[in-house]
Amino acid sequence: MEKVTRRRTISFSFSFSSFFIFFFFLISSNLLFLAGKAAAKFSHEGDNSNNVTALFIFGDSFLDAGNNNYINTSTLDQANFPPYGQTFFGLPTGRFSDGRLISDFIAEYANLPLIPPFLEPGHSQKKLYGVNFASAGAGALVETFQGSVISLRTQLDHYKKVEKLWRRKFGKEESKKRISRAVYLIGIGSNDYLSPFLTNQSLSIPMSQHVDIVIGNLTAFLHEIYKIGGRKFGFLNVPDLGCFPALRVLQPNKESCLRDASRLAEMHNKALSSLLFKIQRQVKGFKFSLFDMNKSLRLRMHHPSKFGFKEGEEACCGTGKWRGVFSCGGKRIVKEYKLCKNPNDYIFWDSLHLTQNTYKQFANLIWNGGHMSDSLVVGPYNINKLFQIP
Ligand SMILES: *[C@@H]1O[C@H](CO)[C@@H](O)[C@H](O)[C@H]1NC(C)=O
Ligand SMILES: *[C@@H]1O[C@H](CO)[C@@H](O)[C@H](O)[C@H]1NC(C)=O
Ligand SMILES: *[C@@H]1O[C@H](CO)[C@@H](O)[C@H](O)[C@H]1NC(C)=O
Ligand SMILES: *[C@@H]1O[C@H](CO)[C@@H](O)[C@H](O)[C@H]1NC(C)=O
Ligand SMILES: *[C@@H]1O[C@H](CO)[C@@H](O)[C@H](O)[C@H]1NC(C)=O
Repeated sequence: MEKVTRRRTISFSFSFSSFFIFFFFLISSNLLFLAGKAAAKFSHEGDNSNNVTALFIFGDSFLDAGNNNYINTSTLDQANFPPYGQTFFGLPTGRFSDGRLISDFIAEYANLPLIPPFLEPGHSQKKLYGVNFASAGAGALVETFQGSVISLRTQLDHYKKVEKLWRRKFGKEESKKRISRAVYLIGIGSNDYLSPFLTNQSLSIPMSQHVDIVIGNLTAFLHEIYKIGGRKFGFLNVPDLGCFPALRVLQPNKESCLRDASRLAEMHNKALSSLLFKIQRQVKGFKFSLFDMNKSLRLRMHHPSKFGFKEGEEACCGTGKWRGVFSCGGKRIVKEYKLCKNPNDYIFWDSLHLTQNTYKQFANLIWNGGHMSDSLVVGPYNINKLFQIP
């Protein structure tokens, strides 16, 4: 009652200029309302339309939106405590960054809602727009950080469960259409190459053989998705791991990168690129977009200011030289950590992961591909194009 009276008093005391402000507010809130309706139509009402292009996400911490919050693991593979998430979400979500990841931006550009983690309870409606299966620490090999992560093979099992659900919900025909129209974003491999260094165990086989086994398992995974009906694939290659702060601090001569880690990544990237072109030649309807994350990251590390960064080597959150000790948040082995003031100025968020600002720049490249200045880093398709293909 009192509220109503007060409002009346205020509206009576409107001056002429505030009338215009009020009028403008009416118009703009109307526009907002309409825009909201359009957005809702695009991203939340279309469950039964035939036009949803879903986004499925597989991989490691570059793409994990919180699956590891729900498994029995350690804080080494979790990021569900502050200051993770502080820039965008205002609270930790399990993402290894200060804010959004590449996949979050891709979903936004594709007019999809945030794609929920497979293991997150609820969201059954949202999961019709896609599902995120990625798990921090995961590799293409089952042995990589086994017992602490969801391996690529188990991620595939989770995907099969979703596919089965879709068949039940949409029927065989419609489900098949959606599965083949969907985009599959995959970022895997880094942990298969990092784990020997991070666990201080040397490789028991030659490096080239290790890469062959990783690529072999990834190939098997891709064929499985293809067999089920997936056709459009987006890949991130592996960055120059030896130059990450966490790896640089592991070696006595701290001025250079950890050579063997970079070498493994380089071999992997060459093999991945030839694999994808080979599958494209051999397998009908297989389309892909490969993002050269290595090149894009190196370019930024070498010329941070060209891309709006102030710091290209040191991480925002952590401790030790380059904040190379993986202690961000104070819940891991080392408790001490420092946090930079403005993560947007940094390329690295912690010693193994990148800031939202970096991920956003990458997502823009992946989405727009050929139309940007460093166009050579995405091809043959950009992800926008993959979404448009029926
Ligand atoms: C799907 O999109 C096409 C063209 O983009 C349109 O013609 C068709 O009406 C849409 N169907 C539904 C069910 O929204
Ligand atoms: C979680 O893992 C730890 C150590 O690996 C084990 O001791 C514990 O029983 C596990 N808890 C559950 C609920 O599985
Ligand atoms: C790693 O292993 C080597 C020998 O295999 C040993 O000399 C070194 O101290 C170990 N480093 C750590 C950090 O455990
Ligand atoms: C996959 O990896 C395992 C080791 O994790 C290996 O034994 C197997 O041969 C690999 N598969 C392929 C197809 O390369
Ligand atoms: C990254 O790219 C640079 C130059 O583009 C290349 O020299 C290097 O071998 C690449 N490293 C990896 C890990 O692909």
